[in-house]
Amino acid sequence: MKPLNPVAFIRGLRGILDGEIYLPASLADNPVLQVLLRRRSVRKFLEKPIPEDVFRTILEAGRVAPSGVNLQSWSFGVFDPESWRNTFGRPIPFGAVRAVMVMGDVHRLKGVLDEFPHRPLVEYTLSVVNASIAAYAMNIAAESCGVASCMLSDTGKSGFYDARFLKGRLNLPDGVFPVMTIVFGYPRGKPLAMPPKLPLEQVAFTETYKDPDRVVMKRWLQQMIAGYRAWKVTDSFQAQLRRYLAKIDDAEKGLGELIFHSSKGERGA
Ligand SMILES: Cc1cc2nc3c(=O)[nH]c(=O)nc-3n(C[C@H](O)[C@H](O)[C@H](O)COP(=O)(O)O)c2cc1C
Repeated sequence: MKPLNPVAFIRGLRGILDGEIYLPASLADNPVLQVLLRRRSVRKFLEKPIPEDVFRTILEAGRVAPSGVNLQSWSFGVFDPESWRNTFGRPIPFGAVRAVMVMGDVHRLKGVLDEFPHRPLVEYTLSVVNASIAAYAMNIAAESCGVASCMLSDTGKSGFYDARFLKGRLNLPDGVFPVMTIVFGYPRGKPLAMPPKLPLEQVAFTETYKDPDRVVMKRWLQQMIAGYRAWKVTDSFQAQLRRYLAKIDDAEKGLGELIFHSSKGERGA
């Protein structure tokens, strides 16, 4: 992937700044839409604690979230800075003051549903879908209380789906799959501009699948590269991709063990 020339860089930045959300005047006062459409991932937090009743309500949004057959196949690892440090030997990422590690969990169900057959891919998919919905519910509940958050594939160690590490560190039984960590806190500074989102025509289709428009995709890529460069002069989208690619094989292997041969994981390590 080539670096951007100055003209492409400026065009990319302008594209980001021109990014708009669709919210017609008739709905502009709707508080739920305001939260949903204006939410941003935040990566800088104040030290200010989140009141217990607020944080408990955020967890409540996860607890009562929708799930397939109401199976509630999730678990939430709940941390404050001290318990995170005890578990991972470091602060919560980005200076956040609370963290929830969201897991897909079919282990709990199997204790009462003996007819639950072992179908690893279905169990994994269903529990990850359900857990992701619960995660987003917590994310939006937080946002509505003025508490910002960021979802992370970070696992407290390597930064990318290190399922084996987490299985050992959190003593996860078979059937519990780490999905993501959400870090919470009050935002420090102004929110960043919305990162480039694909237009609705590019992601929605009717009747049959529509092939992506390559011009639109290239424009998106250009905006991603420009946005990274503007956000952090010392970093780049290409470098971020390289970091992910360096870890992707380990992540694949760890998840494969967890889903299909989970007894070989590092439980209790
Ligand atoms: C499953 C998931 C994992 C993510 N992992 C990370 C992460 O490891 N580090 C990070 O800085 N942001 C992470 N993000 C945040 C995304 O980068 C962010 O959602 C995306 O850039 C869009 O920005 P927005 O949330 O402000 O719309 C993650 C988001 C999701 C949904």
